[in-house]
Amino acid sequence: MFADIVVDLQYGDCGKGKVTHALCKRGEYTHVIRYNGGCNAGHTIYHNKRKFVTHHIPAGVFFGLKSIIGSGCVVFPEQFFKEIRELEEGGIQTEGLVFIAENAHVITKEHLEEDGKDTSIGTTKRGNGPAYRDKYDRKGLRAKDVPELRPYLIDIYEELYLKNPKAAVLFEGAQGFGLDVDWGDYPYVTSSNCISAAACMNGIPPQSIRHVWGVAKAYETYVGAKQFQPAGDIFNTIQEVGEEYGATTGRKRQVNWLDLNFLKKAIHINGVTHLVINKMDILQKVEKWTLYKNGMKINFENENSFKEVLTENTVLDNRGIRLHQILFSSHKDKI
Ligand code: IMP
Ligand code: MG
Repeated sequence: MFADIVVDLQYGDCGKGKVTHALCKRGEYTHVIRYNGGCNAGHTIYHNKRKFVTHHIPAGVFFGLKSIIGSGCVVFPEQFFKEIRELEEGGIQTEGLVFIAENAHVITKEHLEEDGKDTSIGTTKRGNGPAYRDKYDRKGLRAKDVPELRPYLIDIYEELYLKNPKAAVLFEGAQGFGLDVDWGDYPYVTSSNCISAAACMNGIPPQSIRHVWGVAKAYETYVGAKQFQPAGDIFNTIQEVGEEYGATTGRKRQVNWLDLNFLKKAIHINGVTHLVINKMDILQKVEKWTLYKNGMKINFENENSFKEVLTENTVLDNRGIRLHQILFSSHKDKI
């Protein structure tokens, strides 16, 4: 058995869905498993020239791979069934492919209602925080306790160890390093662990991890209650050109330049072996190449010098982590 992981290195919305989609196309995997989060996540996927937005269901389903909402996730049944319908209507077969770990927790209507009243964190109001709170308070409801989910339940141990000992798993994370409940800017975080280590909590031993695909953007965005975007028209321009609106809530994402030190920290803590920098095309369009290093803003003359500094500080200066590859992507549907 082996597993690869796709993890977001910033604040979500870096294009994990696209990377997962591209990796699935290679035909190496037998299973795709979402390892954290609930329907606060929104993955935008372009498949056969059609746009799909999924919140719960992992991208493996587009390739006929078994797609599991893992035990580290929380699931809202109504949203789950809506997605099944939308995928089927879009011509994607889901039958026999989409599963929910029987020990995943359920987001109830009460969780949704409670989260709907949030004003301090700027949550997605999808019931995520209250569902995780009840899980850890041992008052939660598990997927196996909900009759209508029964046809979709799966026992991950049985599936990966007893039935498919040669399983090749792609783990798909949700949210991102900067939103991780432990490593993010608490309390402006989500209620789960987003880092690569959280994939193992879904029943996979650390030794089986092969590659960790870290995904970042050429600039940063964040959605939520804290002030993130500095003053300056350029950030509004990037927001517009980059179409930076939340896939789940439609809120405008706040924009800032990429922070190289933060990116390096994320690479270290997630053990990134392959790095994808997305949305280079947006900086090409606005013709600005800027990032922060050691708290200083650095402006580059052109794209090449921006790329060089990113490569020098990640691939070359990797402090013992073997970062094999850095890919710069300028296309919304390919890496
Ligand atoms: P919650 O996860 O809905 O509780 O929201 C907590 C914080 O995480 C808020 O700032 C949300 O905007 C942010 N957040 C949650 N999920 C995502 C995501 O998938 N992408 C980007 N931000 C997210
Ligand atoms: Mg998203």
